[in-house]
Amino acid sequence: VGSSMEGTSSGSPPPPPSPPMAKNKTSLSTSTWTFNKTLSDLIRKSVLKFLDPERDISILKGTWKPGDVIHYIFDRQSTTNISENLYRLLPTSSPMKNQHYKLCAIVGNSGILLNSSCGPEIDAHDFVIRCNLAPVEEYSGDVGRRTNLVTMNPSVVQRAFQDLKTEEWRERFIRRLQSLSGSVLWIPAFMAKGGEKRVEWAVRLILTHTVNVRTAIPSLRLLNAVRGYWLTNKVQIKRPTTGLLMYTMATRFCEEIHLYGFWPFARDAEGRPVKYHYYDTLTYEYTSHTGPHTMPLEFRTLRTLHRQGALQLHTGVCR
Ligand code: CTP
Repeated sequence: VGSSMEGTSSGSPPPPPSPPMAKNKTSLSTSTWTFNKTLSDLIRKSVLKFLDPERDISILKGTWKPGDVIHYIFDRQSTTNISENLYRLLPTSSPMKNQHYKLCAIVGNSGILLNSSCGPEIDAHDFVIRCNLAPVEEYSGDVGRRTNLVTMNPSVVQRAFQDLKTEEWRERFIRRLQSLSGSVLWIPAFMAKGGEKRVEWAVRLILTHTVNVRTAIPSLRLLNAVRGYWLTNKVQIKRPTTGLLMYTMATRFCEEIHLYGFWPFARDAEGRPVKYHYYDTLTYEYTSHTGPHTMPLEFRTLRTLHRQGALQLHTGVCR
């Protein structure tokens, strides 16, 4: 699949869907889907050869101390230190210790969710994972509200909360976190250089307000281990997206995994425009070939797993 699968800027007029595009983007059938427990168990076992998501979901207080030097995962030559504040937020044991769920939903952020009416279906899962603090209240009919784990890339602080520059943005950020009540807040603080100030601002706000979240800071080996798992399975990803990271980790905690909001294309199966995110104005240029992710390749991989019954990919309207 070539660049025809990749999105174009949402500003340009829609090209008519070509036959290969239509073929690759046909809505996936969920009515004929059956869960393949054998395959799902096998995937869990092979993921465990590369990482243990229960352990690697977070570094722990006992193994680090303030001031310890950390090499960024993608900028190995650059380092940062574990700040006093970040240290205070480290858990003492894995926030996912001994947790197992029958039905999990992972909610990606594609605009394919808009007008899907999938909210109630998503909320009916036993454990719901969301990405990058995506808003839910205003979109709950389509995306649901329930959140048991949510990720927060440092870039979210800039993109969605204006670098917490004004009191108003700081309040918004705090309100969003307060709405999480009891969820795991997963902050990949050491992935790439540049996010340290944003993490520190966010952490300070969490510490000075009443926010009931269980913070998790992924281990340094997590990303390479996830990439290793997929590379070994012949999926040549450059840098796994948050969504793929979450799926890979969820194989450990969840029996049956359902994905919503995974659609990295500017058109739906009928050729209608699809927003990059359901909640903002980012365009597909953001994930161009020069970007770190290989979302369409990831999507094809997930689609294959859907067809094999290892996971269910929901790309249409929920009834
Ligand atoms: N996603 C998708 N199709 C889109 C947008 C997102 O399939 N059009 C999935 C991806 O797996 C992605 C996840 O939803 O990782 C969450 O979206 P986003 O917040 O955009 O995640 P990332 O791109 O990984 O985050 P970042 O841009 O900070 O790297």
